[in-house]
Amino acid sequence: CVPKHVKIVEVGPRDGLQNEKTVVPTSVKIKLIRKLVASGLAVVEATSFVSPKWVPQLADAKDVMEAIQNLEGVRLPVLTPNIKGFEAAVAAGAKEVAVFASASESFSKSNINCSIEESLLRYRAVTSAAKKLSIPVRGYVSCVVGCPVEGNISPSKVAYVAKELHNMGCFEISLGDTVGVATPGTVLPMLEAVMAVVPVEKLAVHFHDTYGQSLPNILLSLQMGISTVDSSVSGLGGCPYAKGASGNVATEDVVYMLNGLGVKTNVDMGKLLSAGEYISLFLGRPLGSKTAIAISRR
Ligand code: HMG
Ligand code: MG
Repeated sequence: CVPKHVKIVEVGPRDGLQNEKTVVPTSVKIKLIRKLVASGLAVVEATSFVSPKWVPQLADAKDVMEAIQNLEGVRLPVLTPNIKGFEAAVAAGAKEVAVFASASESFSKSNINCSIEESLLRYRAVTSAAKKLSIPVRGYVSCVVGCPVEGNISPSKVAYVAKELHNMGCFEISLGDTVGVATPGTVLPMLEAVMAVVPVEKLAVHFHDTYGQSLPNILLSLQMGISTVDSSVSGLGGCPYAKGASGNVATEDVVYMLNGLGVKTNVDMGKLLSAGEYISLFLGRPLGSKTAIAISRR
């Protein structure tokens, strides 16, 4: 049994393009976002207001946001690591933001240069500023199964960070397998621990596909009642601070599976494939989803 409707959070323009060696021109980012929105995706994570020294690929966040202001019927959240990023995001017109914590102390240090507790303090400042402006805040937990440095992460740590983010007012908590090492065998105990402290309707899953386990992991998550799934067009993605991680599960493949399950997504596969082709061609890369490859051979 799986939910009747699933909300897909498209993270390609952010998680995907943050990890490209070459900096993608602003105009290409804007066109990609427009194409994704045209495919019917209701949430497209657009960019990050992070330090350009840490992630030069997204240094044009302000220009991207300004160009997509007038897009209607879509939510365009952006990542904000601190109050400075939050203020810049709001000034650029962001109407929804996301904060990103980690269940691994080492990854927290390498990704945002502070401890987990310190990051939660920063995020409390962001959520309280956001509350005053009625801006919804999503919370990510990274390394929910494994960490590039520490290896296995215990489900109780993930539950602790997820609960803290929920308590500070995050409307949704996305559980990220940053390195892409999870299997249904490790996702199950992790989700059980988190679901004991955060209501399931507030949870999302975010799988990187390093070992090709994302679809079974998503199916298990749906069977456990989760109805929000993060994915990235053409399987773009990765974190510059998580060496060896590959892209997110491809949105095309998630939509193909959901269609097969009879789950409503409101995404037009043809238009989604066209967005995937557009960015793959630009990056000089073969098509990144199994679905696009299969359809191109028909
Ligand atoms: P820091 O060096 O400790 O920060 O970095 P700082 O406060 O000492 O400031 C250093 C410089 O950055 C200063 O500039 C600040 O003004 C500037 P300077 O005086 O040297 O010229 N600065 C900023 N500039 C723009 N926007 C800001 C900002 N904040 C400070 N918001 C910091 C700490 C958090 C800023 C840094 O570590 C950072 O930006 N990290 C972001 C890393 C990142 O984006 N990682 C990828 C996203 S997370 C991910 O991919 C995982 C996820 O997909 C889920 C999953 O897969 O699990 C979400
Ligand atoms: Mg990610």
